[in-house]
Amino acid sequence: MEEIRVKLVRTVDESYPIVIGHGATACVSDLANRDGLASRRIAIITDTTVEKLAAGALAEDLRLTGRDVRVIAFPAGEKNKTRQTKEAIEDQLIAAGFGRDTLVIALGGGVVTDLAGFVAATYTRGVPYLSVSTTLLGAADASVGGKTAVDTPAATNLIGAFHQPVAVVIDLDRWLTLSDSQIREGLGETVKQACLADAEFFAALEDAFVTRGLTPAEFVRDDALTVLTARRNCEIKRDFVASDVHEGNRRMGLNLGHTIGRALESALGYTLSHGYCVAIGLALQARWGATFGYVSSGDVARLERLLGAIGLPYRLPEGVDVSRIMDAMWHDKKGTTNTIRFVFQRGVGDLMVFDCGRYARPVQESAIRAFLESQVAAGQ
Ligand SMILES: NC(=O)c1ccc[n+]([C@@H]2O[C@H](COP(=O)([O-])OP(=O)(O)OC[C@H]3O[C@@H](n4cnc5c(N)ncnc54)[C@H](O)[C@@H]3O)[C@@H](O)[C@H]2O)c1
Ligand SMILES: [Zn+2]
Repeated sequence: MEEIRVKLVRTVDESYPIVIGHGATACVSDLANRDGLASRRIAIITDTTVEKLAAGALAEDLRLTGRDVRVIAFPAGEKNKTRQTKEAIEDQLIAAGFGRDTLVIALGGGVVTDLAGFVAATYTRGVPYLSVSTTLLGAADASVGGKTAVDTPAATNLIGAFHQPVAVVIDLDRWLTLSDSQIREGLGETVKQACLADAEFFAALEDAFVTRGLTPAEFVRDDALTVLTARRNCEIKRDFVASDVHEGNRRMGLNLGHTIGRALESALGYTLSHGYCVAIGLALQARWGATFGYVSSGDVARLERLLGAIGLPYRLPEGVDVSRIMDAMWHDKKGTTNTIRFVFQRGVGDLMVFDCGRYARPVQESAIRAFLESQVAAGQ
């Protein structure tokens, strides 16, 4: 036998800028000219809703600088974040003669940036993509971290790749056309980031929603608060991701509220949106954490008050089936382990760190079930 060793040690710099501001889309053509991107043909990948709101102006702006630009739009909605949509986009790129010199611009919410980012990750074995996020949820969560994916009937985000964008643009003017429930969804993820990393940011959100009683529509018109929200969300996510790019340990912290939240979302047949389920998951981990002494009852009350003031739920919906939540929780592990691990917050603005510096601790299935059943009973 002979064995030849192929030694490949990769050191890559995947740093990128995040530009945040009102009217920030105006920066896209400058960003698309940096770092050797200037000679690339541009494919703006978007959904049909955002196409009407923003694609035309962006394409015109880029064409003014002499760029060859094509807009490819797929029907809006999570149900279209599929391999089939990815294939259809790839076929359009091929038919239009796009090659290795492509720059993808993902223009939209998390569905678009996940899908277009994944197209970019594999098209001709990988082309650069620039992410232009148009939802609060996208700004809060989906645009930083380099996770790209599509859903399958078996599980969401099951097929995908880590592919970092060359730049992220968050145009706060885009939030003005979001519905109240879309804003609340993004705020659910925002409260999560504040809970796990920033007590001052949490207090600023309390001031806005509990003390001043802002509505979602008033929130998106508050310039200082929207800048703070986009900036802190991105910084918090960046800090976690940069320290743990491929989700070994610390990045798990970002799953705060998600173990129950995602399982609930699935148990309810996706009838309650992700951000709302995360809000419930957040409140549950805090109440559960209080029984272990991780969080005070005062902190639990603050969290419930903030979620309630935003208009987010913080209790399990009536009649929810705990067995279905448990099944979904196991399913969500995607076969990786035979234990369920939970992330818990420590007070407001910090995370519990367990043995050997781990951010998630294993919990017995019977203990999770008993806790969830106690919460169903308490909600009635
Ligand atoms: N990659 C990650 O790390 C990550 C993190 C969190 C969430 N996600 C993914 O993000 C997705 C959810 O994100 P989302 O809520 O932004 O979904 P989305 O992209 O489907 O946007 C929600 C809806 O809002 C519309 N829309 C987008 N921008 C708008 C605007 N400015 N005004 C009015 N309507 C607008 C869209 O057309 C869509 O109908 C999920 O697929 C989730 O898996 C990814
Ligand atoms: Zn989430």
